[in-house]
Amino acid sequence: MKIKPITYSILIVSFLLFVGCNTTTNKTSSSTIKESDLIDQKVDSILKLMTLEEKIGQMNQYNGFWEITGPAPKDGQAAKKYEDLKKGLVGSMLNVKGAKDVYTLQKIAVEETRLGIPLLFGFDVIHGYKTISPIPLAEAASWDLDAIKNSAAIAAEEAAAVGINWTFAPMVDISRDARWGRVMEGAGEDPFLGSKIAEARIKGFQGEDLSSKKTVLACAKHFAGYGFAEAGRDYNTVDVGEQTLQNIILPPFKASVDAGVRTFMNSFNDLNGIPATGNKMLQRDILKGDWNFNGFIVSDWGSINEMIAHGYAKDSENAAEIAVNAGSDMDMESYAYVTYLKKLIDEGKVKETDVDDAARRILRTKFELGLFENPYKYCDEAYEKATVGKKEFHEGVLDIAKKSIVLLKNDDNLLPLQKSGKKIALIGALANDKTSPLGSWRIGADDETAVSVLEGMNAYEGNQLTYAKGADVALGRTQFMWETKINETDTSEFSKAITIAKNADVVVMVLGEHGLQTGEGRSRADLGLPGVQQQLLEAIYKVNKNIVLVLNNGRPLAIPWAKDNVPAIVEAWHLGTQSGNAIAQVLYGDYNPSGKLPMTFPRNVGQVPLYYNYKNTGRPVLNEPESVFWSHYIDEKNTPLYAFGYGLSYSKFEYSNLTLSKKTFQHGEKITVSITLKNNSNTKGKEVVQLYIRDLVASYTRPVKELKDFKMIELNPQETKRISFEINEELLSFYTKNKKWETEPGAFKIFIGGSSDNTLEDQIQFLK
Ligand code: NOJ
Repeated sequence: MKIKPITYSILIVSFLLFVGCNTTTNKTSSSTIKESDLIDQKVDSILKLMTLEEKIGQMNQYNGFWEITGPAPKDGQAAKKYEDLKKGLVGSMLNVKGAKDVYTLQKIAVEETRLGIPLLFGFDVIHGYKTISPIPLAEAASWDLDAIKNSAAIAAEEAAAVGINWTFAPMVDISRDARWGRVMEGAGEDPFLGSKIAEARIKGFQGEDLSSKKTVLACAKHFAGYGFAEAGRDYNTVDVGEQTLQNIILPPFKASVDAGVRTFMNSFNDLNGIPATGNKMLQRDILKGDWNFNGFIVSDWGSINEMIAHGYAKDSENAAEIAVNAGSDMDMESYAYVTYLKKLIDEGKVKETDVDDAARRILRTKFELGLFENPYKYCDEAYEKATVGKKEFHEGVLDIAKKSIVLLKNDDNLLPLQKSGKKIALIGALANDKTSPLGSWRIGADDETAVSVLEGMNAYEGNQLTYAKGADVALGRTQFMWETKINETDTSEFSKAITIAKNADVVVMVLGEHGLQTGEGRSRADLGLPGVQQQLLEAIYKVNKNIVLVLNNGRPLAIPWAKDNVPAIVEAWHLGTQSGNAIAQVLYGDYNPSGKLPMTFPRNVGQVPLYYNYKNTGRPVLNEPESVFWSHYIDEKNTPLYAFGYGLSYSKFEYSNLTLSKKTFQHGEKITVSITLKNNSNTKGKEVVQLYIRDLVASYTRPVKELKDFKMIELNPQETKRISFEINEELLSFYTKNKKWETEPGAFKIFIGGSSDNTLEDQIQFLK
């Protein structure tokens, strides 16, 4: 007998409600065994009802962009997508926004398909949906895990209110190459800081309870190696050794699994000869095997079919076979699974049990979200209206924006600015830009919705503020909506800026990259100020040296001239919706900056990749080099412009008196290392105290310094505190020649300081 679709849906829902009647809602990492077992039972019972095609359908994700008036996708695949959706051949959609549109599509899945299985709706909620937080690299500069978690929680709550139940974030790729446009989306160059931030962001997005209306699935991406693209060019080949893969690239992904992340995204790149999307070692052996991950893996956009261009698959059918066998569970926009998987199973090239496993993983997350109980829980238009852009969200993103700012230079205490009686010239097109601070990953936010620096500074009325743009940075959108051209030649507005600078007590210059000059597909071969801005800076300097340079950028910049000449430099990244208010509060001293760089700033693009945790080499830096035969450049220093971990404050922090509770320790024991931190100023402030360690001799060469812990300490004027860290065996471990994480006995250097290049140090010994 043929059962009508709607009857099946009712059967499933009634059955599931019956099975679930004595339990609380589904939790994520905090699941009790009983709850997760129960979800598994429910998933198994649905799987039994599903045809092979329907299981494959769960593994299929289509892009949205639907007409508001009806479910009609606009692109060429429209008709097929619509038919596939009705046949139950779609498990998830991405890029559908708004409770109303999500409802329209969910209704088709629930009411018009045979089994009524609800859809997942994915979206790149990278640093906010409509109320935009700082770019992730900026947030990483806060080193404030609670604030970062809170920022992700705001993003999740707002995104969930517009119908989204899955964000493609956090990006946990480590990168050492500032040329790569996507460094703005990560947490910088360090695996320890990156792991802590990955955990904070995942916990912020997913909360304690995924079935809550305020949380969404998180997605650790891009698994793996994407941040090591050769020459920093996006999508380029990645060739890294096992030591770099295990000790640098993988730790934030492992931390993501430990934090309970429910999904992973694989990546576009070739990793040591095998595209990540078809990489079994990464997906089946490490992630699903060694790490026991029971969520699912989505491909990156079209990355299954891209294996053809990589020269790894001969056609789309072959690509589907490789990807599924390697453990990729869901196909984003290649149409390869939905087209070929059944045939591949019939021919014995793919195991049906692998399809069952993938469908099981995907269905499990739908249960965890509570979608079977209420598929429309994210589709409430009244709630959407009341939630999007809430006052609390703006307060939250302002808070993290202030915390993300890094004070790079402040000669003669030029900052903070006096609040009255001064003539201030504000110069730079970016100072009056209400779109750039939103960055390039903010598909849910409208242009012109950020607070500009001009607006932020205008709120302080005691000074006489004049503004001139000096020169454009961006020249409007190209044919690609998310791209902008750079002004490389036009200096015709310089003279107006020079005139106002001449008459000012202080010149505030906002220079750097437009938000659309960073992000995916926006690698740069030059790390200077784009376009004519360096020329503008030097022209202004000729008439007024009292310059506060406020940088807006999504990556480290190489700006040696500015460091040598400009008295005050503030790194203000792309700070999101509240950007101008955050910057003004820092400039006027209503907020004392405490950010520290999460990524090394080079002097020269030729030094890149440049990072603090480098290896010593056999011919390291000599203090007084007397020969040419050591590891260096003949035309540039080895050292960075600004080091990882560096950042000043309006307070003056002093480190002294490093002590160790003992010099040697063994398995099961620990050593306490302490320093004295003094705030030798009259301004209350916060300092990130950083602990680094060096393994002096090991079975593999080890970096000269590795971050192992940090603490954010707040001190009153002239206050002094002892700050301690505990060192145990685990802290000293790395991926050894035995192919596991362990600690080798021997001597270790311990460093504590306020920057990776300015530390107190001592030495300890670990005895087995
Ligand atoms: C491609 C990007 O690499 C990925 O990070 C993103 O989530 C997808 N596109 C979907 O937009």
